[in-house]
Amino acid sequence: MAPSIKVKPIFVTLLYATFHLSAVASKSADPSPVPWPPQFHSILFMNNSKGNLQKVDLWYDWNNGRNFNIIQNQLGKLTYDLEWDNGTSYVYTLDSNRECRTVHFPVGILRPNWLDGANYLGQQHVDGFLCNVWEKVDFIWYYEDVVTKRPVHWVFFTGMVAHVMTFEVGAVLEDAEWQAPVYCFGEAENEKRPVIQSGVSVGGDMGLMKGFFSSSVAQ
Ligand SMILES: *[C@@H]1O[C@H](CO)[C@@H](O)[C@H](O)[C@H]1NC(C)=O
Ligand SMILES: *[C@@H]1O[C@H](CO)[C@@H](O)[C@H](O)[C@H]1NC(C)=O
Repeated sequence: MAPSIKVKPIFVTLLYATFHLSAVASKSADPSPVPWPPQFHSILFMNNSKGNLQKVDLWYDWNNGRNFNIIQNQLGKLTYDLEWDNGTSYVYTLDSNRECRTVHFPVGILRPNWLDGANYLGQQHVDGFLCNVWEKVDFIWYYEDVVTKRPVHWVFFTGMVAHVMTFEVGAVLEDAEWQAPVYCFGEAENEKRPVIQSGVSVGGDMGLMKGFFSSSVAQ
C-alpha cells in the first residue's frame, strides 16, 4: 500500500503534464486536407437546393492544365464543361442543338492545393463515413474520410451537395476526348448562340467554384 501512496503524486503530475502536452499538441495539429492528386477521375452525384440531380464525371488533369466536368442531368441534358488553365472554358452539348458557349475566367483551373488555409471544423459522420471537415471562405464545406483521406462530400454555399462516388487517383482521360466541337470555334456567331440553361451557372456549381476561386481566392 505504502508504495502506491508514494507514487500517486508523481502519477498525478504526469497526468497533468500529459494532459497539458496533448492539449497543446491538438491545438497545433489540426489536420489539413490532403491536396488533390495532380490527376484523378471522380464520379460525383450532385443535388442542388431545388433537388435537381446530376451525375458528374470529373476529370481533373493538373499536369496538362485542363479540367473536365461531364454533367448528366437526371433524364435530361448532357453538358460538357471543358476548362483550360489559360482561362478559356467551353461549355457545350454534342446533340443536334449544337450548343456551345465560350467562357473566360481570369485564372485557370483549381490548383491541387486550393484548400490550403481552410478552416478545420472537426469530425462528422457524413454519407456513412467519419470525416474531417473544413470550410473555405464560407463558400465550400469539404468532407474527407478520416481513414483513407479521400474526399467524400462537398457542400457549396448555394446548397448544392456533391457526393463523391468514385475517386480514381492517376486516371487520365485520353487526349482525343479533350476536344471541343467545331461549332465552338470560328465566327462571332458563336457568341450569339443560346446560353445553356441546364446548370445553375456555367458547369453547375463546379464551374461556379472555379469562377469563385478564380476571382476571389486565387491570386
Ligand atoms: C436533394 O436535396 C433536397 C433539398 O435539400 C432534398 O429534399 C432531397 O431529398 C435530396 N434528394 C436526394 C436524392 O438526395
Ligand atoms: C486556351 O487553350 C485552348 C485549348 O488549347 C484554346 O482552344 C484556347 O483558344 C486558349 N485560350 C486562350 C485565351 O489562349
